[in-house]
Amino acid sequence: MNILAIESSCDDTSASVLTGEGIQSNIIASQSIHLQFGGVVPELASRAHQKTITQTVQQALEEGQTSLDHIDAIAVTQGPGLLGSLLVGICFAKGLALSRDIPLIGVNHMDAHIYANFIDHEPEFPLVALTVSGGHTQLVHVKSPFEHRIIGKTRDDAAGEAFDKIGKLLGLPYPAGPHMDKHAKKGDPKFHKFPQALLKEGLDFSFSGLKTSALYYLQDKEKEWIQEHLNDICASVSFAIAEVLVKKLKRAIKQTGVKTVLLAGGVSANSMLREKSVKMAEEMDVQLYSPKISYCTDNAAMIAVTGKMKADMGQFDDLDLVPFASLT
Ligand code: KG4
Ligand code: ZN
Repeated sequence: MNILAIESSCDDTSASVLTGEGIQSNIIASQSIHLQFGGVVPELASRAHQKTITQTVQQALEEGQTSLDHIDAIAVTQGPGLLGSLLVGICFAKGLALSRDIPLIGVNHMDAHIYANFIDHEPEFPLVALTVSGGHTQLVHVKSPFEHRIIGKTRDDAAGEAFDKIGKLLGLPYPAGPHMDKHAKKGDPKFHKFPQALLKEGLDFSFSGLKTSALYYLQDKEKEWIQEHLNDICASVSFAIAEVLVKKLKRAIKQTGVKTVLLAGGVSANSMLREKSVKMAEEMDVQLYSPKISYCTDNAAMIAVTGKMKADMGQFDDLDLVPFASLT
């Protein structure tokens, strides 16, 4: 089965082709228009999707050495995400589906982050996924494909949001997560002790206290001082975030008894989180998977692989498919 996948939930327009041989293309057009605003402007995002979507899909088909004549299903992100952005992808997918009589499959973006791990590996169920992105931070107990139970989530900011907001205070460009990661590699994680919230309590997370603590810590510091200690501050912030994430993941493993754990979402590209997770997995004797870096942040390959799993289970949608903004 050949699948064309489209992802447009936030500020990346992406298209991918999946065949029986695996992922053949994964084109990502990132929107630079938001840089000047230090965050994503929803209306500008949907307009930029509209401008690039045709070309992105065409390129994915070309690179995948196929054409619409050989596509058996179109998978498209249904939500969560920005409604205007999602609408562009969904309307485009519906147009193709209708004109070419190709079945449509709506895909949940957060599920897709989890199943990005199945592009290059075959993780065994049951498993626990730590899904950390710009908008979500969740621990998900997955007993079998699509049988998901959220056993922990953030009560306020997402981990990626914490990276982005603290990075903004440090003068780093949006999204700040990858920049903080780069600086953190050269810094001392013990330079400053930032708070790690809710460590003693269950599986929920909270990152807004860390953000406030960083704000107070930085407010009376000179720009030059921040610049001089940028690597150390980034390392200390990354340490606080990664420690909490891995400690909670460890608790989730103990609670559920799973032998497989997955990292998922944009923040799963973070090197400190990956290193700490590897160590923890060895200690706990569980099998750990994380997607390759290009499949961590938003991409259509993860939509394609999830669409394929849904197709295999006979889960198709019709033209009534509507986007949804949030998970609840
Ligand atoms: O999954 P994603 O691409 O989009 C959402 O669904 O939100 O995640 C984006 C988030 C941003 O907050 C970005 O700063 C963060 O992932 N991120 C990172 C790294 N790469 C991306 N955070 C820390 N370290 C990284 N290497
Ligand atoms: Zn995402």
